[in-house]
Order: sequence, then C-alpha cells, then structure tokens
Amino acid sequence: MPAQAGTFIFSPWKKAVSHTTRTASKDTEAHAKKRRSAEAALDYVAADSVLGVGTGSTVGCLIEALAARPGLIRAAVSSSEASSALLRAAGIEVLDLNDVDALPLYIDGADEATRARQLIKGGGGALTREKIVAAAAQRFVCIIDDGKLVETLGAFPLPVEVIPMARTLVVRAIEARGARPVWRRGFVTDNGNQILDVHGLSITDPRALECELGGITGVVTVGLFAARPADVLVVGTATGTETI
Ligand code: 5RP
Repeated sequence: MPAQAGTFIFSPWKKAVSHTTRTASKDTEAHAKKRRSAEAALDYVAADSVLGVGTGSTVGCLIEALAARPGLIRAAVSSSEASSALLRAAGIEVLDLNDVDALPLYIDGADEATRARQLIKGGGGALTREKIVAAAAQRFVCIIDDGKLVETLGAFPLPVEVIPMARTLVVRAIEARGARPVWRRGFVTDNGNQILDVHGLSITDPRALECELGGITGVVTVGLFAARPADVLVVGTATGTETI
C-alpha cells in the first residue's frame, strides 16, 4: 500500500540517517529549538481567531502548545490530513478553507529559509495545501530551528508535486535544466499526486525558479515559497528565539 502524506507528519525519511547516539542527541536539540519557535509563535495568535496550521514536526510542537491553551483559537484551517488529525485530537475544530471569510494568520515550518524569508517547503509532502493556506492568509509566520537558516536555498532537495501521469515528462524537463529530480517512491500526497525531490540546485533567484518550474506542464506545485515568502521567521536557537 502506498504511503500517504498523513503517515509522514514527522518526516521519517529525513530521519533515516539517525542511527547514532550523536545524531539522536542532535535530533533532541533540534526538537527543543523547534519547540521554542512554536511556542514563541503563539504571541502572534489573536484570541478567538481562526488559525491556519501547517504540517510537520515543528507544527506538531505548535499543536501541542495550542492543546495546552484550550480556547485560545476558535478553530483551524489545516494544510494536511495529518495536521487535521492532530488538531482534532487536541480538541480543535478544523474548518474547510472555503467556509472561512478571513484567515488572519498561518503558522508553518520549513525545510530551509533565508533571511529574506524565502523558503523551501514540502519535505513532508504537504506543499500544495501549504501554499494554498499561505496564499489565503493575511500573515504567514514561519517557525524553524536555526539549523535550517541558509545563505542560499537548494542544499535541501526541492520538492515538486506532480500529476502522476506527467512524472517522467517533468523529470525530463527538469533534467534538461541540469538538475537531478528523484521520485519519492511509494509516497502519495493528500491530493493523490507524486513528489519529485530535485537535487543539485543552488537557487540564486528563488522567485524566477518558482515561476519557471511551476510553468512545466504536469507540475502542480513547486516547494519554493518566494513569490509569497513568510512575513515573519521565528528561529528557535539553543537559548531562545530570533525573529527575522
Ligand atoms: C511539510 C513541510 C514542513 O514544514 C517541513 O518539511 C518542515 O518539517 P519539520 O517541521 O518536520 O522539520 O513543508 O510539507
């Protein structure tokens, strides 16, 4: 049975290398930083508002923080089935985006971020719904640990969601641009699509690449958030948080 996006909320493929104790302790440190950024993001949440909620382990920390403050938000709009399940388990109502008049705030993690608040997202495979909720929100607060802050995007393979029948067409088009797309085998997004992780990119102009790859027939969403970057980046550090 193919893996569903919802089974990957804590991105286990990103942790497949975590065999050693040293790596395990680094994971724990990174998790503490994620928790700090998630808790600091609550300062941006207006009481009794509807909150846009992203996907991933940092967002898992956010949902835990929300669960500890019952009644802080009225309801949520979720970017994945996995986050919807966590939100409901925390007693938070999940609304369809179509039923919401205004979404003042969206909080989500990222795989890489620059100080210009441009992002790579989609390590958890939820990039399309994440981009939709980010587009709908008046403000996007991105929560990361400081290990994800980079000068230039692209060391993290860029996720691209594709229509299944177009996969090889898109692979060839990306290869023709000198990059190396790798099919995330066995993974199916919440929208029934597939993911290519594009290696070998050094992204000097994120907006241009987002537009260029987004224009390839068969591409649903490119995991670059550059045309609509985050408005605020809350970075968890060893001692606290930095806001960018
Ligand atoms: C999911 C995402 C996540 O925000 C991104 O992968 C970061 O995940 P994590 O908080 O687990 O490190 O884009 O599609």
